[in-house]
Amino acid sequence: MSMASIQILASQNQASSLLLSSKLFHHSTLSFLEHRHCFHPRVSINESHYDIAYSKTQVSHLPLLSSSQAIERLKTFRERIKGKQQYLAMYSSIFGGITTDPAAMVIPMDDHMVHRGHGVFDTAAISDGYLYELDQHLDRFLRSASLSKIDPPFDRETIRRILIQTVSASKCRNGSLRYWLSAGPGDFQLSPSGCHESSLYAIVIQDISPSPPLNSRGVKVVTSSIPIKPPQFATAKSVNYLPNVLSKVEAEEAGAFAGIWLDSDGFVAEGPNMNVAFVTKQNELIMPHFDNILSGCTAKRVLTLAGCLVKEGKLQGIRMSNVTVDEGKKADEMMLIGSGILICPVVQWDEQVIGDGKEGPVTEALFNLIVEDMKSGPSTVRIPVSY
Ligand SMILES: Cc1ncc(COP(=O)(O)O)c(C=O)c1O
Repeated sequence: MSMASIQILASQNQASSLLLSSKLFHHSTLSFLEHRHCFHPRVSINESHYDIAYSKTQVSHLPLLSSSQAIERLKTFRERIKGKQQYLAMYSSIFGGITTDPAAMVIPMDDHMVHRGHGVFDTAAISDGYLYELDQHLDRFLRSASLSKIDPPFDRETIRRILIQTVSASKCRNGSLRYWLSAGPGDFQLSPSGCHESSLYAIVIQDISPSPPLNSRGVKVVTSSIPIKPPQFATAKSVNYLPNVLSKVEAEEAGAFAGIWLDSDGFVAEGPNMNVAFVTKQNELIMPHFDNILSGCTAKRVLTLAGCLVKEGKLQGIRMSNVTVDEGKKADEMMLIGSGILICPVVQWDEQVIGDGKEGPVTEALFNLIVEDMKSGPSTVRIPVSY
């Protein structure tokens, strides 16, 4: 087919074929296309009909898009898939600036993070206009990059400034900041030697509904059958989260909130995006040590804040140690800890009800302490954003 005929097809089928080849095609798109007089369905639109009738025939009519047409379609796509989260701003070292247009929040296909998983990431919560534990997360981010042999494109202070500026541009006062360091774009080889320069990306997300809802005090967990990552990989926060995703899916399929990994010796390790802690019958807070798992910034903060519960006599002690499954299941309290969920009580692990099946007093006290810390903690954990 000549270029000229492709272009004629492109104008005839404006905004149809690319979307038609996707299962994400919905009625809203149909109305958009009909409205523009560019699409005439031959069958009533029902996704399975659509799949059979169009997916095979229409691929031969894929339009060749100009960059402005591609951007237009990206905008339509973003409008169509608005979900529970809103993306308020993105920084990319590729374009060396910040955009607030979700359609432009894209990264190059040949980025080593996209096609080889050669990237690391981290987060920080935005709470009342402050970044919570930004420096602690940034330290882990750079440690993960070093473990992954990614040399950042900027020094720590510059990265920190970029992250704060991105939050400022987003005007977001409550939400989360996520950022990635990648070996960068260059080619599609396995070796990063062809990557032009490492890249930094950051995005500000406004969460409309947190998961789990902060008022749902008590979740079920199951022992994960998905193999845990070996310590070399589990201790770095790389983008290789396939085991974590599969563990989460497995838990959801079992009607649970998360899977709990055991390490190679059978001790309790962590969840797919959270740490785990227990309160023993002797009223001690115990947490698996971080040698084989991700050292959680929230978990570390909890260990510090829990000190005051010891002083007040509400806890007998705090210990990082190996935790057996038996010990964990017999504990008075079990909790999940992470920046996404803060502290979430576990009321059932597999078939075992934990404690009295309700949120325990230590879990509740720790939750209140961390919420208070986010609101009025010291300047070492609260970084103000100037809007
Ligand atoms: C595997 C894993 N473990 C633990 C955590 C908890 O870490 P943090 O409290 O820093 O969010 C996370 C979350 O990032 C994680 O992905």
